[in-house]
Amino acid sequence: MTAPEASDAYDPFEDFNRSAGVGLVDDPYPLFALARPQAPVIEDNVLESMGLEGAEDAPEIVQRVFTAYSFDAVQQVLRDGETFSSAGYAAVMGEVMGHTILEMDEPEHHTYRGLVQQAFSRKTMERWEKEAVLPIVDEHLDAVIDRGSAELVRELTFPFPVNVIARLLGLPRADLPQFHRWAVELISVGFNWDRGIQASHALRDYFAAILAERRASPADDLMSTLAAAELDGQRLTDEEIFAFLRLLLPAGAETTYRSSSNLLFGLLTNPDQLDALRADRTLMPQAIEEGLRWEPPLLTIVRTATCDTVVDGVEVSEGSIVIVNMGSANHDEKHWDRSEEFDIHRKPKQHLAFAFGPHMCLGIHLARMETRVVLDRILDRLPNLRLDPSAEPPKIEGMTFRAPAALPVLFG
Ligand code: HEM
Repeated sequence: MTAPEASDAYDPFEDFNRSAGVGLVDDPYPLFALARPQAPVIEDNVLESMGLEGAEDAPEIVQRVFTAYSFDAVQQVLRDGETFSSAGYAAVMGEVMGHTILEMDEPEHHTYRGLVQQAFSRKTMERWEKEAVLPIVDEHLDAVIDRGSAELVRELTFPFPVNVIARLLGLPRADLPQFHRWAVELISVGFNWDRGIQASHALRDYFAAILAERRASPADDLMSTLAAAELDGQRLTDEEIFAFLRLLLPAGAETTYRSSSNLLFGLLTNPDQLDALRADRTLMPQAIEEGLRWEPPLLTIVRTATCDTVVDGVEVSEGSIVIVNMGSANHDEKHWDRSEEFDIHRKPKQHLAFAFGPHMCLGIHLARMETRVVLDRILDRLPNLRLDPSAEPPKIEGMTFRAPAALPVLFG
């Protein structure tokens, strides 16, 4: 992605792209297609693949690593939170985000989820659509509409989900540029650890001041709802609220930017499907699900086996790390015909982009609503939308997180 100003020596967006592995892997799907027929779950010899000698004599303490590739294996692991723990996230992610819902096992997870999901009710979603998502998407489109051209990632899909979260939290408008910068630095922690940790502390202090205000005089926003949430006499502590708010940036902003960009990419590179969707908006829900199946924004998540077990017929020993490859599962040829193809006319069927089981995405309705609104407004307001033939053809990149770095388009 090009920096907005050549003179700007430090561009957090560049760090962000590098941390997402952009430029490293164009397309891992052919590798997954080679792996699936071998076995549904395959052990990776980490030491051997690092080229270390004597890997076969490694002490038992080295954790074994398995990757689940088939749809059935991935679904089985995700469904069973008792055999497959999420606690492994604490080591790295806990440092950056605090103790979040992602790293909790039962029964702690169930209680906490019951508290935070009060902020994501269907009624709230309807209000957010009208008061936050629609006006924010329109503001971004207003800025490009007279130009007849745009770079849809930098000018729309990347900024809008962070702006939505800022609006839901009730953050002052003037704070948006700083908030966005911290958000990008936080999610680029894999690339620049120190800057990520600094952003995490800065966000905590920033949220603390606003939470104190909302506790004193509650407003009609997500921060106030979390402050007031109660279940069986239990409430969220301030630290739990800060951890959740930090998680919202990578969980709620980065994924939605990627899913809406990937869907747009699928449509722009298949103009017949773009025309079909424009002509018949009842196709929208299945187009959104097909985009998520075909190019999920997040390909892999991780679990740890709590006992010796068998996954889709393959033995996995206690203490092993299990890499859950949702991208591969979503392309499993046993589940979908022409599984590598993007086809919005496909009959909708359960995919695993939002995971499955106890940790299945909490923001699923918000994510679908945001994607629907952004697509609808693009189709309503940008007639004759097409890729800019004079620009370099975009491609979806990345190994764990995937999206196009740019979507240069013409319209009108
Ligand atoms: C298309 C967009 C999205 C995708 C593909 C996605 C995907 C996922 C996945 C795969 C997980 C499971 C992670 C794991 O267990 O390791 C997850 C969990 C989660 N997601 Fe999303 N997500 C999206 C959007 C959102 C949004 C908009 C929010 C904002 C509220 C959100 C909030 C969460 C939260 C809080 C969790 C943790 C749930 C738990 O641990 O019980 N996500 N998401």
